[in-house]
Amino acid sequence: MTTPSTPKLYVVFGATGNTGKRVVPLLLAAGHSVRAFARSPGKLQVSHDRLQVVQGDVGDAEAVRAAIKGAQAVISLVGGPLGDKSFHGGVLPPFIKAVHVGMREHGVKRLLVQTGAASVVRGEKFNFLKHVLVRQIDGRKRGDHGCHVDNDEAIRYLETSGGDIEWMVTRPPLIVAKPSEGKKVVALDVMPWPPVVTFEDLAAYTVSLVGDDKAVKTAQYCGYPLTSVIHPPSVAGYVVATVAIGLAYLIYRLI
Ligand SMILES: NC(=O)c1ccc[n+]([C@@H]2O[C@H](COP(=O)([O-])OP(=O)(O)OC[C@H]3O[C@@H](n4cnc5c(N)ncnc54)[C@H](OP(=O)(O)O)[C@@H]3O)[C@@H](O)[C@H]2O)c1
Repeated sequence: MTTPSTPKLYVVFGATGNTGKRVVPLLLAAGHSVRAFARSPGKLQVSHDRLQVVQGDVGDAEAVRAAIKGAQAVISLVGGPLGDKSFHGGVLPPFIKAVHVGMREHGVKRLLVQTGAASVVRGEKFNFLKHVLVRQIDGRKRGDHGCHVDNDEAIRYLETSGGDIEWMVTRPPLIVAKPSEGKKVVALDVMPWPPVVTFEDLAAYTVSLVGDDKAVKTAQYCGYPLTSVIHPPSVAGYVVATVAIGLAYLIYRLI
């Protein structure tokens, strides 16, 4: 265990999820205290004298706000059900708003929210691969679209209404439950490639980022460092878009 220069109390929402259950022990190992907010506390696999557990649902705005009291920072690793076609969103937006209100009420400044690489941020350039293939075609087919919509709305809320807090958003690609790759996850300006990280490496990144003042008001992608000067998502997006436009033009000329 290391003792941080300033041990903090972190409230972790989504503490029982795939990312959350790896972030909580890392925060504790770094000498911090954690208040884990979970709808099923029995799923938490760790007990510690610096771990408090609060049972609740993120849809309960009052419970969310109350859980923030006395904390120095908040981490959201909450997500709706990926791969569920019947889910059309609605979990994250009211929850993030309740977190924001709670942070104002209790004078808490820092918030990290994990979204995904498919999420859209303000001013982002159109990328055919991401906006059409990943989100509209693959996302709908796999049943991830509701989570994409939720993540987008959470980001939009922070961008437009979160001026008074130190928010930061992470946008990882596909996350897998494999052992650490032994590489550090880093912030990226372009879509990660390869588009996959391990939960373990992402958790380590999350814990280091939340204490990084330079990350405030950013919503960058994250992934392993790019190893090639060619960025396949951009090239593929360009090629697919060109072919699609060519085909559309051909069909238009033929009919
Ligand atoms: N998994 C991926 O490949 C992937 C890739 C890119 C981005 N992301 C994004 O990363 C974030 C977290 O992903 P993850 O895979 O770690 O999530 P996850 O394993 O599905 O965990 C989600 C967490 O949110 C909690 N939660 C959901 N609804 C809740 C509610 N109403 N009340 C209380 N807790 C609730 C879950 O609690 P329970 O344990 O009780 O269900 C769980 O702790 C999401 O925004 C997701 O879209 C995921």
